[in-house]
Amino acid sequence: MSKQTIAFIGAGNMARSLITGLVRSGHPADRIRASDPMNAQLEAVRSTGIIAMDSNSEAVEDAEIVVLAVKPQVLGEVLSGLKLNETQLLISIAAGVPLQSLEAWSSANQPIVRCMPNTPALLGAGISGLFPNPAVSMAQRRAAEAILGAAGKTIWVDTEALLDAVTAVSGSGPAYFFYLMEAMVEAGTNLGLDRDTATALTLETAYGAALMAKEGELSPAQLRSNVTSPGGTTERALSILDAADSRAVIGRALAGAAERSRELAEEFGRR
Ligand SMILES: NC(=O)c1ccc[n+]([C@@H]2O[C@H](COP(=O)([O-])OP(=O)(O)OC[C@H]3O[C@@H](n4cnc5c(N)ncnc54)[C@H](OP(=O)(O)O)[C@@H]3O)[C@@H](O)[C@H]2O)c1
Repeated sequence: MSKQTIAFIGAGNMARSLITGLVRSGHPADRIRASDPMNAQLEAVRSTGIIAMDSNSEAVEDAEIVVLAVKPQVLGEVLSGLKLNETQLLISIAAGVPLQSLEAWSSANQPIVRCMPNTPALLGAGISGLFPNPAVSMAQRRAAEAILGAAGKTIWVDTEALLDAVTAVSGSGPAYFFYLMEAMVEAGTNLGLDRDTATALTLETAYGAALMAKEGELSPAQLRSNVTSPGGTTERALSILDAADSRAVIGRALAGAAERSRELAEEFGRR
C-alpha cells in the first residue's frame, strides 16, 4: 500500500483531511496527487507536499487508486470523463451515490469501494462505513481501509443498503449531537447562566461523556444508570425525557434520515 499512487479528484475539505492524514501517517507525498479546478484548493493541498494539478485525466494516469471527492451532483460528469482501467481501485466518498451508478459511469468490472465518512474526519476523528463491489480484491480492501483510516475509524458493512443506516447514525450523527448541545446551552441560559458559561459547561460535558463512553469498559446504559441516583436531579430530568417519548422520537429521526438516504440513491440511480 505504501508505494501505491493515489489520485484525489476534487481537493476540497474531505480530500484535504484524508491527504493530511495520509502524509502524516507516512504515505510518500510524491505518490499522492490531487486535481481541482480551483487554484486556492490546489495551493492548500500543495502545502502538504503532494502533487496538485488542474487536470483530472493527468491525475489518474497510472494511479493505482482514484478517490472521488467531489460533490454528488457533479460526480457523474466527472467520472464519465475519466479514462480508468479495470485494475484501478475507485473509492467514492460521495453521499448517496449508489454502486450501480458508479459502475455505469466507469465500468461494470471496475473495483469500487463506496464509503460514507462524517465531518469529524476533518479533525482526524471521523468514522466511515465502507462497502465494496464484487471486483474489489482483499489487497484493495486493505488499501481503502488505510486511506479512510487516515481520517478516523473504518467499519465494513455487509450490504450496500446498510450504508443508509450508517448515513443515519454517523453520517448525519454529528448534527444530532450539535442539536442537543444547542438545546442544552439554551436551557442553561434560561436557568440564569451567561451564554459563554452555559456553552463551556455543555461542551466539556459532551466531551467528557463521549470519552467515558468510548474509553471505559461500561455501556452507555450502565454509565447512565451509574449517574442516576434514586430521587436525584438526573432521575427527574430523565423521567421528563421519557415522558416525552424521546427515544421513540430519536428512532423516528434516524429512520427518516435512512429513508432520505435511500431516496437520494434512487434519484441518482434514475439519472
Ligand atoms: N464534508 C463532509 O463531512 C462529508 C461527509 C460525508 C461525505 N462527504 C462527501 O465528500 C465529498 C466531498 O465533500 P467536501 O465537503 O470535501 O466538498 P468540497 O469541499 O466542496 O470539495 C469538493 C471539491 O471538488 C471540486 N470540484 C468541482 N468540480 C470538479 C471537477 N470537475 N473536477 C475536480 N474537482 C472538482 C470543488 O471545486 P469547486 O469548489 O470549484 O466546485 C471542490 O474543491 C462529497 O461528495 C460529499 O458528499 C463529505
